[in-house]
Amino acid sequence: YKHDPKFPEGFFWGASSAAWQVEGATEADGRTPAIIDLNSKTKKPFADNSIAADHYHHYKEDVALMAECGFTSYRFSLAWPRIIPNSDRKVNQAGIDFYNNLINELLKHNITPIVTLYHYDMPVWVEEKCNGWLDRSIVDEFEYYAKVCFENFGDRVKYWLAINEQNMQICYGHWLGVSKGCTDWFRQKWVINHNMNMCSAKAVIACHEMVEGGKIGPVPGMVPIYPETCKPMDQIGAMNAEEFTEKIWNDTNAYGKYSNFLKNYWKNNDIDPGIQPGDEELMLAAKIDYIGVNCYRSNTGKDAPLDAEEQEYLLNKDGVKGNLKFPVVPGQYALTNNPYVETNDWDWEIDPVSLRYTLRYLWDHYQLPMMIMENGFGMHEAKDENGEVHDPERIEFLRENIYQVGLAIEDGVEVIGYNPWSFTDLLSTGNGMAKRYGLVFIDATDEELANAKDASELGMKRIRKDSFYWYSKLIKSNGKDW
Ligand code: BG6
Repeated sequence: YKHDPKFPEGFFWGASSAAWQVEGATEADGRTPAIIDLNSKTKKPFADNSIAADHYHHYKEDVALMAECGFTSYRFSLAWPRIIPNSDRKVNQAGIDFYNNLINELLKHNITPIVTLYHYDMPVWVEEKCNGWLDRSIVDEFEYYAKVCFENFGDRVKYWLAINEQNMQICYGHWLGVSKGCTDWFRQKWVINHNMNMCSAKAVIACHEMVEGGKIGPVPGMVPIYPETCKPMDQIGAMNAEEFTEKIWNDTNAYGKYSNFLKNYWKNNDIDPGIQPGDEELMLAAKIDYIGVNCYRSNTGKDAPLDAEEQEYLLNKDGVKGNLKFPVVPGQYALTNNPYVETNDWDWEIDPVSLRYTLRYLWDHYQLPMMIMENGFGMHEAKDENGEVHDPERIEFLRENIYQVGLAIEDGVEVIGYNPWSFTDLLSTGNGMAKRYGLVFIDATDEELANAKDASELGMKRIRKDSFYWYSKLIKSNGKDW
């Protein structure tokens, strides 16, 4: 290391989660099913989320552990079907109470809540009514839901995030269950994308109107793309990969309009994204305050002169693979291996420098403050014979990544907080508890979770991992003791 990193006073240190991955209690107190619950029951290797980490029943204990660790922030999401369980749009008071209790508990310990409105758990009733994201009526439903959230929690929650990783939802639509109703995903994904943009824009505007001092932004899934070689066409291949996996979305969010690159792409491929009169004005009026950044890894891109539909065919043919090493959105590029970085058990590149790269890249393009909302290390983990959990690999990963955040701040980038994924173990999107991310171990395996009648049958004991103690020292010294 060159020297110790320095973090500004008041820098937010916390961790991150999402409702469907951590809460469990999917049938409690009036919550109705979400599309992701159904995925998790039927689609391998998703894991059943009816218990998850049972945070719904353990939230007080979890917040106490956060406080013990020294957290000053916690990023989590609200479950739409807990708040508005049915198409009559009646607000479920029990759902509101749960989130009020959680928020109040956090504030009692001086932990700033950062709240995501949408993290993949569309209520099934909305999917049925709006044909997933395809029908324009989704925009009204989402705006109504967002307003209910601002009205109920906006007096205490000042940091908001609209839609988690919209870019990944469009890139991996089949996987994440957003392609409902599509007969021509290649073209209709852009209608879904536009509807999501309308939902975000409405939420941004409502947040500014309803939440005093409220800040709201997007949270893209950032995977920076390096060119495979210095071959000029590999630069273009990498640029294309970046456009089609991230930049299109970041430009839209930050500038409030679609780029020429995207408009030309639509024109050349005969795509009508369903823009209605007034939409572009709305997008322009919805000014985001900051960017939430999810970043775990990098990718490497090269020139691949396939035409767009041919690439889309590859996606439909192969489906989603563990390492996602193939073009997910059409464009002239292919993703390839990077011999300079190691990979984890799921072939994800272990590349802490990519976090500095991402922060620099986003700052250079958009000049908006940024808060890291996800970054972390997924691994297979179990208790040892003493009932302890040692995770030196995670400590190493976090230390290296936090160092790179420090360097980005020195580079002049405005970074205001770091919330790694995740606080307790929770269900990984594709791998359940087999791929753990937490600073705190949840004492239950996928098999136990699948076979238990309910959470009370399992202890759901929380065990502090070594990374918990390491992170706690780091936080309490504002990054000095690392
Ligand atoms: C992010 C998502 O893309 O990556 C999280 O916002 C997810 O929901 C995280 O859990 C890690 O991915 P995975 O597939 O390892 O769980």
